[in-house]
Amino acid sequence: MWRKLLPLSYPVLAVPCRGRNPGRDAGPCLVSQSAGEGIQAETTTLTVRCGDLRAPAAVEATLVVAAHAVASRAPEPILADPFAEVVVRGVGQQPFLRIVDGTTNFAEIGYGWCPPLFGIRARTFDEFLLAACRSGIRQAVLLGSGLDCRAYRLDWLTGMALYEVDQLTLMDWKPVFLANCGVTSTARHRCVGADLRQGWPSALCKAGFDESQPTAWIIEGLLPAPPSQILAPISALSCPGSCLTADYFEGAEPEVVDDVADQLHGLDSSLGLHSVGSDLPRVDPAAYLAAHGWIGRSAHLVTAFAAIGRPVPAAIAGPQHGALLRILRATRLDTGGLRTATW
Ligand SMILES: C[S@@+](CC[C@H](N)C(=O)[O-])C[C@H]1O[C@@H](n2cnc3c(N)ncnc32)[C@H](O)[C@@H]1O
Repeated sequence: MWRKLLPLSYPVLAVPCRGRNPGRDAGPCLVSQSAGEGIQAETTTLTVRCGDLRAPAAVEATLVVAAHAVASRAPEPILADPFAEVVVRGVGQQPFLRIVDGTTNFAEIGYGWCPPLFGIRARTFDEFLLAACRSGIRQAVLLGSGLDCRAYRLDWLTGMALYEVDQLTLMDWKPVFLANCGVTSTARHRCVGADLRQGWPSALCKAGFDESQPTAWIIEGLLPAPPSQILAPISALSCPGSCLTADYFEGAEPEVVDDVADQLHGLDSSLGLHSVGSDLPRVDPAAYLAAHGWIGRSAHLVTAFAAIGRPVPAAIAGPQHGALLRILRATRLDTGGLRTATW
């Protein structure tokens, strides 16, 4: 459980890696797939403390980034994340290493839905953030960002400030690991270690967050739904013009989520899954935000495939997977009352 994180004990892992410095002058766009090619070819030795990356919440984050790696290498990939595989290798958890090595795959272990579902979710959230940047927003907060590489795979406009907030272990590890691989964000990038159930707003502000600036908030994977412990401070910290996107389960959490936890545990008994939302009272995020000064809209995640002109992959067409996950997008209203949402 999140409340029972393992005591600090750090085995040491040596990781081969190579530098990459993306161009800084382009506007916001997806960094091309080729940007990460060869990252592992030139070897330097990096010492990484990785013991706590086996804690349950870190395992969830690794599962998602492994799915991003697989989604990025499919023919006609729905995601272009050249760094996801590098991160999976750095974490070094066996079930996920076998997946990126190709000695097994998500379908074989019963989670064929993970790459298309997490891939389209990441892409949809990337596009939300890029649209926010194009509209002039220069501050974004990724809550529960885990091991996701959005900060690195997107190329940011000058002046962009990007904050990631997650448990301390991940926020300490990810930027250091990637920096040692020569991978840095083109944004002014801060990783903030904090507990998302309490105290995170002051940690965020201490890191430089400016509540007088409109902010784009990303809440991805804090399932079954972002709790009010997250939505209330977001509201308090968001000036008019801020925007937010989140995913959440409509109704009961599907059994498939428990299945994943059980199966991962079966593959490696030290692995487990747990998310911030699961031990907190549940709210409907769309209704909550509507009652607190936001205008929003939500849609099933699978509709995102139609938006990019692709059919819904069979692995997530059923009611146990994509059909239950919704994506919410909302804009903070100004004091003048209702206006039209911009997506
Ligand atoms: C399913 S992962 C999603 C990671 C990322 N958003 C993505 O989509 O790749 C959930 C994340 O929530 C984080 N998390 C869960 N409970 C938390 C808490 N109480 N405080 C801080 N982070 C938490 C975990 O560490 C994990 O990185």
